[in-house]
Amino acid sequence: MRTQTQEQEWTAPAGAPQAQHPSRAPAEDATRAAGEIRLRGTMRIGPEGHLWIGGCDTVDLARRFGTPLFVYDEALIRAQIRAFHEAFRETGLAYEIAYAAKAFCTVAMCQLAAEEGLAVDAVSGGELLTALRAGVEPRRIHLHGNNKSQAELELAVRSGIGYIIVDNFVELEMLDAVARDAGVTVDVLLRVAPGVEAHTHEYISTGQQDSKFGFDWENGQAREAIRRLGAHLGLRCIGLHSHIGSQIFDAAGFVTAIERVTELYAEGVALGLPFRVLNVGGGFGIRYTAEDDPEPIRRQIHTIADAVRSAFSASGLPLPEVAVEPGRSIVGEAGTTLYTVGTHKVIPGVRNYVSVDGGMTDNPRLALYGARYEAALANRVNEAPDGVWAVAGKCCESGDMLIWDASLPDPRPGDVLAVFCTGAYNYSMASHYNRNPNPAVVFVRDGEATVVVERETWEDLLRLDRPLRRG
Ligand code: LLP
Repeated sequence: MRTQTQEQEWTAPAGAPQAQHPSRAPAEDATRAAGEIRLRGTMRIGPEGHLWIGGCDTVDLARRFGTPLFVYDEALIRAQIRAFHEAFRETGLAYEIAYAAKAFCTVAMCQLAAEEGLAVDAVSGGELLTALRAGVEPRRIHLHGNNKSQAELELAVRSGIGYIIVDNFVELEMLDAVARDAGVTVDVLLRVAPGVEAHTHEYISTGQQDSKFGFDWENGQAREAIRRLGAHLGLRCIGLHSHIGSQIFDAAGFVTAIERVTELYAEGVALGLPFRVLNVGGGFGIRYTAEDDPEPIRRQIHTIADAVRSAFSASGLPLPEVAVEPGRSIVGEAGTTLYTVGTHKVIPGVRNYVSVDGGMTDNPRLALYGARYEAALANRVNEAPDGVWAVAGKCCESGDMLIWDASLPDPRPGDVLAVFCTGAYNYSMASHYNRNPNPAVVFVRDGEATVVVERETWEDLLRLDRPLRRG
């Protein structure tokens, strides 16, 4: 019989920080204690031994909607958002939380974010349009990007979004021209590359200038941008932005970034710029596996707030509105992907492969980052694992792997495999490699499942194809 661990809190007890996974781990390198499943949010194990999420039997969801299927626990998303609000309220600072839509951008998700009082941080015209279609108030949308097109800038200005985060000198000129053409003054933040690079649970301060994003803090480009702003009559710079990385486990890197950016903030204020926002970006880490040990959101937000208070009071500045842009921490743990088990290949003494009906097309994160995941057979959750399986996708590529070391009871064709913690940067990074259609997405809550993105069909894949013209 498997044991269940029910997680009530945002993070779990201490463990070692996540290590980058080598492309191929030895088969015996199983890191999850065999037989233990961490039940997140509303996950339960039903009396029939099935995994339930949001009051829905996942085996039934797989049958009704097909696989691969992204299942989002709506209550868990809302709980994560509320944890951010609660932490900020405790600090007493003025704040704004913008959902980084790049983590998972659909109309339903933007609606939910807005319902829960979040702004939306978009990073392309497509994400911006999705937020607008979702009915997000334009003033509560921000636009990011290191190479925004003219069309994207025009859409942003025309729609009257809250602010645009300007990334470089070329954009400064382009946006100024767009704003003047439209006869408006556009609010902007300047993105500063603060020389702090976050690597999962730690941060390093080398190589910090080597980034395509933002105005460099160290070589004076950020200072220069602030000085030049006075000449751009179409732009009103209301603050500064920095983002130090993603899957961060503690707030130490934020503190250094805040100290550096506050120096520039003080210079902008001295030049008469109407600064009022300090946006410290996103990056709050989540627990993909038992080894990941991020600090609770509450503690990280409090550390950020303390750093802002002390840096601003040391500079004699009035406190800013503090903005954050979490993506992964809002949706990551709330997403589970369901697959149907197909073939397997056992190579005695080498490795046991089991293949599922998705793969790097719906989750490229192992292939790209060596990311690690945990999984269980959703239709036989109570059965103890009796081996370590390498879970492969169906693409024609050896690197198409989801997990190298899943502890599972012998998987059989037709079993439903649940891969946990796939809510962030999975659907949003899905591809059509090998012309595989993208999965459907359902939100589950109180026993109800709502399809928020339909499954693509083979026909959908051909929709934009045109035949060669001959003769
Ligand atoms: N703000 C900015 C300016 C960002 O660049 C990002 C992420 C975020 C906010 C949100 O970060 P989060 O809270 O989600 O960590 N595809 C990668 C992640 C790329 C993150 C890019 N920027 C992955 O799958 O891990």
